[in-house]
Amino acid sequence: MSTPASSPDRSDATGATAGAGVTPVVSPASAAQGCTITGLHKSYGDVEVLKGIDLTVEPGEVVCLIGPSGSGKSTLLRCINLLEQPNAGTITVAGFDATDPDVQLDDMRAQVGMVFQSFNLFPHMTALDNCSIAQRRVLRRSKEEADRVSLANLENVGLAELADRYPDQLSGGQQQRVAIARALAMQPALMLFDEPTSALDPETVGDVLGVMRKLAEAGMTMVVVTHEMGFARDVADRVVFMDGGVLVEEGPAKDVIGNPQHERTQSFLARVLHPDGTLDG
Ligand SMILES: Nc1ncnc2c1ncn2[C@@H]1O[C@H](COP(=O)(O)OP(=O)(O)OP(=O)(O)O)[C@@H](O)[C@H]1O
Ligand SMILES: [Mg+2]
Repeated sequence: MSTPASSPDRSDATGATAGAGVTPVVSPASAAQGCTITGLHKSYGDVEVLKGIDLTVEPGEVVCLIGPSGSGKSTLLRCINLLEQPNAGTITVAGFDATDPDVQLDDMRAQVGMVFQSFNLFPHMTALDNCSIAQRRVLRRSKEEADRVSLANLENVGLAELADRYPDQLSGGQQQRVAIARALAMQPALMLFDEPTSALDPETVGDVLGVMRKLAEAGMTMVVVTHEMGFARDVADRVVFMDGGVLVEEGPAKDVIGNPQHERTQSFLARVLHPDGTLDG
C-alpha cells in the first residue's frame, strides 16, 4: 500500500480562517509537498504521446506549461492525477507514489485539484453544492463543515453572494471560479490547470487569472497549461516548453519567453506573440 511520506495534517486546514480575507486558502500540505515525475511515457495504441518526461515541481512553485496543440500537455496533467494510466515512469505527488498499483486513488486525488477548460460543474447543483459534494463523499465532512469550507472558498474567488446559483445562471468566468473554489475546498497540495481561460469571453478572463494570481501569491503549488503568455511571464516561477511529447526547454519566464534558446521554442513563440515580440497584459 502506498501512503504519503508525511501525512498532511488536515485538522487545521478547513478553510475556516478564509472567510474574513481575500487570500485563497492554501493547505499546510502544499507547503511541504511537491511533484516529481521521472521517465514518464504514455502511448495511445501505437502513438507515443509522452516520450520520457522528467519534471520536478517544488513545493510552492508555479510552473507554466506551454507548447503547440497536440504536444501532450493535457496528457501530462492527466497522468499526474491518474486520469490517464502511464505506460512507464514514476510520479510522486503530495507524498504519494502515484504509479504504485496499490496507491489509494481517492486519497491521492484529494491532494490534486484539477481545473479544466470546460469547468465540468454539475448542472443540477448550486455553486455551493458543487463545492461541497466531493468534500462530503471523499473527505467525509459533514454537510455543515463542507458548506462552511465551500463558502470560504467561494468568498475567496469573489462569489459568496452567488453560492445558491446554478451553473446556467453564472457566466463562464464565474463558473470557472466556482470550479477553482471547488478544487480548493479539498485543500489540495497541488493544483493543475488545463487552459482554464481559453473557453472564456475575453472580459471574464481577467477575473479568473486574478484568482490564479492570488493563489500563486498565497503559496499554492501549481502547474498551469496556458496560452496566456502575459500570465506566464508575470506569475510563473518556471516556464516549460513542450513539443512532440518531450520537454524542450525550461527556465525562468524571462529566459524561456523573453530569450528562448531552442529553435522549436522560438518558432512557437513567434506564432503566439505579437509580431513585435510584445505580449498582451
Ligand atoms: N484518449 C486518447 N486516445 C488517443 N489519442 C489521444 C487521446 N488523448 C490524446 N490523444 C493524442 O495525444 C496527443 C497529445 O494530446 P494532448 O491533448 O495531450 O495535447 P495538448 O498539448 O494538450 O494539445 P492542445 O493544446 O490542443 O490541448 C494528440 O495527438 C492527441 O490526438
Ligand atoms: Mg490540451
